[in-house]
Amino acid sequence: DETIRELAKERGRFIGTILNSEWFNDAIEPEFEEIHKTQFNVVVAENEMKFDATEPKEDEFNFEKGDKMVKYAQANGLRVRGHALAWHSQVANWVNDYKGQKEKLLAVLKNHITKVVGHWKGKIAEWDVVNEAVNDDYNADWRSTNSVWYEGIGAEFLDSAFVWAHEADPDAELCYNDYSIEWGLREGSKASFVVEQVKRWKANNIPITCVGTQTHIEIAHETTPQNVRALAKALAELGVTLNITELDIGFSKGSAGKLTEADYAKQGHLYRQFMDVFLEEPNMGEFVIWGLTDAHSWLDEQQGKTEGLLYDKQYNPKPAYDSVMASL
Ligand code: XIL
Repeated sequence: DETIRELAKERGRFIGTILNSEWFNDAIEPEFEEIHKTQFNVVVAENEMKFDATEPKEDEFNFEKGDKMVKYAQANGLRVRGHALAWHSQVANWVNDYKGQKEKLLAVLKNHITKVVGHWKGKIAEWDVVNEAVNDDYNADWRSTNSVWYEGIGAEFLDSAFVWAHEADPDAELCYNDYSIEWGLREGSKASFVVEQVKRWKANNIPITCVGTQTHIEIAHETTPQNVRALAKALAELGVTLNITELDIGFSKGSAGKLTEADYAKQGHLYRQFMDVFLEEPNMGEFVIWGLTDAHSWLDEQQGKTEGLLYDKQYNPKPAYDSVMASL
């Protein structure tokens, strides 16, 4: 049978999903790797390249788990997206010792980005340089609370992060990544705020090349594919690519066991619409799903949602898988 990867290759497109060292492990889930490498051509580490994983102690780096994924990608001809350098979440605890100390925090972030990007220079095609720096309000603005970077440094941490990442690997694509920017370009919306910042970054020669829209959604969110299309077009005018970076289309946990064929078909239809937008818009670079099998997903563990991916808990392809194939 043909695979997503084969069809993606014919079209010259990048379609991927995440790996997590807990189940990217033959002893635990023997099916996982086989499906991953035959169906996809992009790898993202779910947690292994985040700050707390890569720099658990100050200036003591641990690249072991990330290296394992990069080696696997190289052995199988897969593209690697790096995730994520400057983010308020999953920061190592020791960083909080420097709360409010601007110069020290700038030095910490610079050292982190320089060493992590430098370690995988030439091996990671694209980095999420800054993740989730905008708040959730309709009156969008920078996330100003619970962010050690923003509270200590101010918004210039974002600009600097891009500059340092570019210095460490001038050939890597560098993205700003966030959630809920698939909610449309209304006045005051998060998406509009991000586009304004991209405009400013480009005007100031900040080396951003891409935006990632995470796209953790539900089947009721029918307008989101067209919002992604509009965002891709707006960013095209600025010379910046749009990627779908963390797609999942979950159901509420309460509906588990009660889902009907129509529900799965609707989920497949939405996957298809995202794929159509991705294939039709010349300004879109990557399509990444935040998981492979419903047996392992942050939706169940943390989001009160379930069954948002292409494969069910027994690793059988769902209608959503067929929809993705049909669009290719
Ligand atoms: C999630 C992982 O899936 C979980 O395993 C982890 O415990 C928390 O982070 N936005 C992001 C991702 O950018 O890094 C998050 O991943 C999901 C939301």
